[in-house]
Parts: sequence; C-alpha cells; structure tokens
Amino acid sequence: MAEELVIATSNEKSERYSTLLPQIEALVADERDLVANLANITAALRQTMNFFWVGFYVVRENQLVLGPFQGPIACTRIDYGRGVCGAAWKEKKTILVPNVEEFPGHIACSSASQSEIVVPAIKNGEVVLVLDVDSDRLNDFDEVDQRALENLMRTVERIL
Ligand code: SME
Repeated sequence: MAEELVIATSNEKSERYSTLLPQIEALVADERDLVANLANITAALRQTMNFFWVGFYVVRENQLVLGPFQGPIACTRIDYGRGVCGAAWKEKKTILVPNVEEFPGHIACSSASQSEIVVPAIKNGEVVLVLDVDSDRLNDFDEVDQRALENLMRTVERIL
C-alpha cells in the first residue's frame, strides 16, 4: 500500500483528480475492510482537493448514517428523500447543487456550506452509500468533479 499520497501541483482540478484516482484504486486494492477504505478515501480527497467537508453516509435500514469523513462534525442521520443526500439516495443519481439555499429541504450541517455534490454507490440496483462533498464557496462543483467522483464511486462499488 502506498503510504504517501502524490498530489499533482497543478491548479487544474482534472489533473489533480487524474493523479489521485489510480492511487485510490491501489490503496483500496490491498485492504478488504470497507470502513478502513472509506476512511482513507476521504483523507485522500481532502488532502488532494482541499474540500471543506467530504464524507460518506451509509444506508442502514431506512436512514443514511454518517460514515468516515473529513471536516467539521456533521449530522449523523438523514431520512430517505431528505436533503441532498436523501434525494441522491431516492433518485439513485448524482445531485449537484450550485447554491444550497436554493435546494428545497437542504440539510445545513454547517452554516458555512454553500454548494454541494452527492454521488451514490449502487449495488444490485440499490444505493448502499453516498459520497457527500461540501464547499464553503458558491458554485464550486462542475462536470469535472461529477465525472471524477462518479469514477471514484465505480471503484467504491467494486469493494462493496
Ligand atoms: N447537506 C447535506 C447533509 C449532510 S452535510 O452537508 C455533511 C444534505 O442536505 O443532505
């Protein structure tokens, strides 16, 4: 397992993602424990992309429950269909929110969060967990983030 992350110095986030994703694949390839892998993924994303908050919510019965994350403390449980995370779970697809104030039912774990992207991981047609990334800046995520984070979640799906 790589013990040190190589972080592209480029200002282009697409380059930082493309340096990161193969390292994450290598990182999770040698470890079978899901929590350990999710924890390292959040740390690698935070170190590389400098996200304000990045973490996983895991489906447990009828709720999403907070999993490994990096950033300020967050709400621990989210109901099906509630907030951006619950909506991504219900709709089984990525939800990109340029301005959280304009998303009906957005759950403000931190008043500093201004934009957000949530990407689900799906196994046998059901959402197993979601990746949530928050920014303290408006309109901070675009299709580059969406493509890279969806690719990352395909890797996560392989270890579920
Ligand atoms: N804003 C999310 C809740 C989770 S926190 O942002 C970490 C939502 O609306 O689902």
